Amino acid sequence: LKIVRHIADLDLDHTLKIGLVPTMGAFHEGHLHLMRKARSETKTVVVSLFVNPTQFAPGEDFDRYPRDEERDAALAEANGVDVLFAPTVEDVYPRRTTSVHVGGVATRWEGAHRPGHFDGVATVVCKLFNIVSPHVAYFGLKDFQQCAVIKQMVEDLDVPVKLSFEETIRESDGLALSSRNVYLNEELRPTAPELYRQLGLVKDEIHSGTPVDQAIEVARANLTALGFQVEYMAAVDPATLEPSSDVNVGLRVIAAAKLGPVRLIDNV
Ligand code: PAF
Repeated sequence: LKIVRHIADLDLDHTLKIGLVPTMGAFHEGHLHLMRKARSETKTVVVSLFVNPTQFAPGEDFDRYPRDEERDAALAEANGVDVLFAPTVEDVYPRRTTSVHVGGVATRWEGAHRPGHFDGVATVVCKLFNIVSPHVAYFGLKDFQQCAVIKQMVEDLDVPVKLSFEETIRESDGLALSSRNVYLNEELRPTAPELYRQLGLVKDEIHSGTPVDQAIEVARANLTALGFQVEYMAAVDPATLEPSSDVNVGLRVIAAAKLGPVRLIDNV
């Protein structure tokens, strides 16, 4: 494993197929799954580790976001990663004059609840694509809207990269893996999988013919009764992220909810 701190020191052979896994570190099995997928499909696997300040809204957890580079490097190495690209903030953002703004699919949900978040994500991912020039880039579907935002950016800006979106990896009780799960204390942790469980119930209800709005109202009420503060729960067209009740479009049910101080998102 080669650890690279500066853009200028990235010395990649672009005649070989390059796979990029963009991350903010604090690796869990979801990240490792993406690394192994990249390992199996590409010649040079690059993992970026950069806690991107521009995607955190004021008051969010940038300062206390979990960081453990030594552990991450060992895990990357064990999963066949060739290059761990861990640049400094100064290297990535010598200035902050230009940014990428994605409209459309970025507008609602996370976009509405975390102002500026998707501009930060799109800007850093666009920069990483330009810095690394990967043939394929890998992202986890836990952040379903993020995947849609990146897909739209790549299409709208004609970025020459193939995108690969991978299924969410879960704990045995259903909780979607997330670096932020370390914020869940012993008291909250047993309740956390209810978000996924209720999303599953919404899916089952829709499949058995319950009107979409009704299924969502019941799940919202259940989550509220369990102590969640639901920020949003909606059935959306996966292509547009607009609310939909058209079961023929392969609806995605997406949700964000706070459990105590911890904000969880998930989708089915
Ligand atoms: O999903 C993440 O970890 C981040 O949003 C990403 C894609 C690495 C951009 O900073």
